[in-house]
Amino acid sequence: MKKHAPPQHCFPLLSIFFAIIPFSSSFDYHQALSNSLLYFETQRSGRLPHNQRVTWRDHSGLTDGLEQGVDLVGGYYDAGDNVKFGLPMAFTVTMLSWGVIEYGQYMASAGEYGHALEAIKWGTDYFIKAHTQPNVLWVQVGDGDTDHYCWQRPEDMTTSRQAYKIDETNPGSEVAGETAAAMAAASIVFRKTNPHYSQLLLHHAQQLFEFGDKYRGKYDKSVGVVSSYYPSVSGYQDELLWAALWLYRATDNQSYLNYVLQNALSFGGITWAISEFSWDVKYAGLQIIASMLLREEKNKVHKPTLEQYLSKAQHYLCACLHKNNGSNVDRTPGGLLYTRQWNNMQYVSNAAFLLTVYSDHLREANQQLNCHGELVGPEEILSFAKSQVDYILGANPMAMSYLVGYGPKYPTKVHHRGSSTESYKHDKGFIGCTQGYDGWYARPHPNPHVLVGALVGGPDVNDRFRDDRGNYVQTEACTYNTAPLVGVFAKLFGLESTEFSSNPSLISSW
Ligand SMILES: *[C@@H]1O[C@H](CO)[C@@H](O)[C@H](O)[C@H]1NC(C)=O
Ligand SMILES: *[C@@H]1O[C@H](CO)[C@@H](O)[C@H](O)[C@H]1NC(C)=O
Repeated sequence: MKKHAPPQHCFPLLSIFFAIIPFSSSFDYHQALSNSLLYFETQRSGRLPHNQRVTWRDHSGLTDGLEQGVDLVGGYYDAGDNVKFGLPMAFTVTMLSWGVIEYGQYMASAGEYGHALEAIKWGTDYFIKAHTQPNVLWVQVGDGDTDHYCWQRPEDMTTSRQAYKIDETNPGSEVAGETAAAMAAASIVFRKTNPHYSQLLLHHAQQLFEFGDKYRGKYDKSVGVVSSYYPSVSGYQDELLWAALWLYRATDNQSYLNYVLQNALSFGGITWAISEFSWDVKYAGLQIIASMLLREEKNKVHKPTLEQYLSKAQHYLCACLHKNNGSNVDRTPGGLLYTRQWNNMQYVSNAAFLLTVYSDHLREANQQLNCHGELVGPEEILSFAKSQVDYILGANPMAMSYLVGYGPKYPTKVHHRGSSTESYKHDKGFIGCTQGYDGWYARPHPNPHVLVGALVGGPDVNDRFRDDRGNYVQTEACTYNTAPLVGVFAKLFGLESTEFSSNPSLISSW
């Protein structure tokens, strides 16, 4: 094994490296946006439609829910496995929807708006099926333990497809709340193009929020099989506030805002200062949305509480920008935000999204971010968010794009059952549980199918990355990694195209 150079030797190398990377326009955000939306087609479970563009995939999970007498066909596989996990799936849909709400116009000019809506609807159609009664939500199909024992394509799964639900006696406020947030956010997306569907989503969202609020309980207590995979560390209070805020945005109904204000203290909304935002921990996102409500005249009466939300939002944003007095998010020598070893990229893509949205908010409000007295303008915030995206796309010491399929160099041995195995379309010969490990997982070759648009877990604290199927800490991708990037790619694409159109000389020089 090669000995790692001490940090002081890395430094000059890195500066040379950054000097030769052209600052901007080297990345094709339009391409990245198009790629990212393809990934959601790859992760589809259920009966694939005729317009499915990722053609190496086929129908799968067609009897999901059958044993329990409920139709749970559809939805998304979470990552490199074939389990449908409700909480991260709902968070994925919330973030996709938020991206479309903010940057849908740019997706439209890139010709990707329809694909973005399809990605959301593939999730929300499933949530509608899974929400079978006001106080019953099916929140998982399959289980991590049996699934991880096998390396099988989704098309010939033989693992358990047991389905799990929450109800009044087995509550799960995190997943009820996040699914409510996802459906409320999606109802905003579909309001104009599909008003009936939008109303339906809102109806489910309201019921799910009430269910989650009235029957409070941790979902990983009720659904024990999720506890080694997606246990909620932050509990459900963040999801309840988050759901109420999204319902307020979707309905303008004051009672949801009152919930966010009245529970601000007891649910930690104005006390938790946290420097990560994820499928589990929603505080920073909800604090940012709450603080942006200060801009509206009608909310001036709520100024004292909303300003406390703002101060915690500032903590998150300033931590990402390394402008807090202590408690900042670490960075790798190459400049990547670094939260933790396993799937660090999820924190990066979420931060890039929140920073981008907040930068737009500041520009529109003609304000600046206050980091302990230092004022930070919207351009600086956006440029930092862009630096994270550019790192992802290849401006990094490995010169590797962590968005699979983008650019000349990207991970080729992604930890993903389907893409690492011959396509079911080409070879319908059954591949058994452990046979998949022997015949495909263990192969030294690149995956036969490129998992286009997937954002892998990414490099370590020293910007190093080992492209190895067994190295799932770095090479596994998740739907909630890519989801926030869709909006950011659209914004960066939009920024370039408006710069070009407002400056015709730039266009003619191309
Ligand atoms: C607002 O939401 C609350 C809680 O769901 C509901 O009881 C009330 O009727 C709603 N008000 C309006 C004006 O829709
Ligand atoms: C930063 O924290 C230190 C130690 O708590 C304190 O002495 C100092 O005044 C703080 N600086 C600012 C700008 O808040």
